[in-house]
Amino acid sequence: MRKLLALAGLFAVSPALAQTPSLPDGPAKQTVETVCATCHALTQVTGAGHSPEDWDAVVRKMMNAGAQIPPEQVSAVIDYLAKNFPPKTLPP
Ligand code: HEC
Repeated sequence: MRKLLALAGLFAVSPALAQTPSLPDGPAKQTVETVCATCHALTQVTGAGHSPEDWDAVVRKMMNAGAQIPPEQVSAVIDYLAKNFPPKTLPP
């Protein structure tokens, strides 16, 4: 499993996959990059914008679906997402 996650991490930063968005730096970047890209593209994450409450709900929903976030990192992941992907204002 560790090997699989490491591979997923490699994929996420591989320049060959130009469409993989690079995530902003932050304490939970690595976790998001590896865990959140296992079931769907990271664009599913980077394209979203949520309030901290909504990110909390989304992350818990993903964990229910099987996302393997180490328990001690859950709140860091939520903080990271809330900080970097806030709700989007609608285009005019
Ligand atoms: C176990 C598989 C799995 C993992 C791991 C996973 N997701 Fe998802 N995710 C899904 C599925 C399935 C959907 C689409 C179904 C839905 O919208 O309920 C989805 C949809 C989403 C959506 C769009 C729908 C919404 O509710 O806003 C976001 C945002 C999202 N995921 C973020 C994340 C983040 C952040 C992580 C890492 C913490 C993550 N996902 C990890 C399975 C996963």
